[in-house]
Amino acid sequence: MKAIVYEKYGTPDVLHLAEVDKPRPKKDEILIKIYATTITAGDVRMRSFDVPLWQWFPARVYLGIRKPKRQILGMELAGKIEEVGEEVGLYKKGDQVFASTTSHNFGAYAEYKCLPEEGMVAPKPKNISYNEAAAVPVGGATALRFIKKENIQKGQKWVIYGASGSVGSYAVQLAQYFGAEVTGICSTSNLGWVKNLGAEKVIDYTQGDFTKNLKNCDVIFDTVGRISSSQVKKALSTNGIFLSVLKSAGNEKKEDLLYLKNLIEREKIRPVIDREYTMEEIPEAHKYVEKGHKKGNVVITIANEM
Ligand SMILES: NC(=O)c1ccc[n+]([C@@H]2O[C@H](COP(=O)([O-])OP(=O)(O)OC[C@H]3O[C@@H](n4cnc5c(N)ncnc54)[C@H](OP(=O)(O)O)[C@@H]3O)[C@@H](O)[C@H]2O)c1
Repeated sequence: MKAIVYEKYGTPDVLHLAEVDKPRPKKDEILIKIYATTITAGDVRMRSFDVPLWQWFPARVYLGIRKPKRQILGMELAGKIEEVGEEVGLYKKGDQVFASTTSHNFGAYAEYKCLPEEGMVAPKPKNISYNEAAAVPVGGATALRFIKKENIQKGQKWVIYGASGSVGSYAVQLAQYFGAEVTGICSTSNLGWVKNLGAEKVIDYTQGDFTKNLKNCDVIFDTVGRISSSQVKKALSTNGIFLSVLKSAGNEKKEDLLYLKNLIEREKIRPVIDREYTMEEIPEAHKYVEKGHKKGNVVITIANEM
């Protein structure tokens, strides 16, 4: 099968097209023909190995000391099941699914991927395309995990910092869905569409201290890892909480993917797509995402829908 591989850390040019073995499903696995994947901020970091100094050693052990252990990146996908292992009961050939691969060695920059049926995989939302569905599992489930962990309540004041990113655009929609009063923080060109996602207020972070008119906030959620708790302390209520996406909110859960599917099908939330590229254009897409200003998600079409 065709895949985009990298054999060394470096610039987007280390990514190249290669012919690799097509995976075969184990007894409890499904083989997915991939129609779409995405380029996440995490993919870019794993390719470039641009990590803070304190993370250097643990990240290198995880990713590969001298060279990447897993040569195919890609954290999320949408596709159709081509084959199932003999013990698989939940799915059958032809089912449309979307999935995260982050607990299963990544590998979505390829034509096929095997995943355990009990992994972070669920039936694709019926009302969106493969390209849209591929952009849900990482950003959507991350935002949902953080929001659920804080036991969000109706009427709370939530501030979503970095509201125009992948995690941020889902966080705005989910917090609004749960009944919070949402303020989105983003730059000038994103103010309009972030408001349309459901933010009651939007503040432009390029125009000085974004906290100056914020008071008594219950939660300030930094979805892009750019601010510190000390910067926002005065805008929080006495029991207010600062959340950072750089801290863990726990492991991925399949139930979160099913929850997101339900919200999408009820048209409560939707993925935001910035640009779409082909598989061969993945190095170019990495160059774009690396700039740090994508609006929502950048999608790669691996195969065209029929
Ligand atoms: N903890 C976890 O489980 C987990 C899971 C997934 C992702 N992550 C991490 O979460 C972070 C965000 O990921 P993502 O994919 O959502 O990011 P992303 O989509 O790549 O973020 C891009 C967005 O960030 C905004 N931005 C850039 N600089 C900003 C600043 N100084 N202030 C406010 N907004 C700024 C950009 O808007 P402008 O163009 O307006 O600047 C752009 O819309 C990454 O570090 C990722 O690795 C963590």
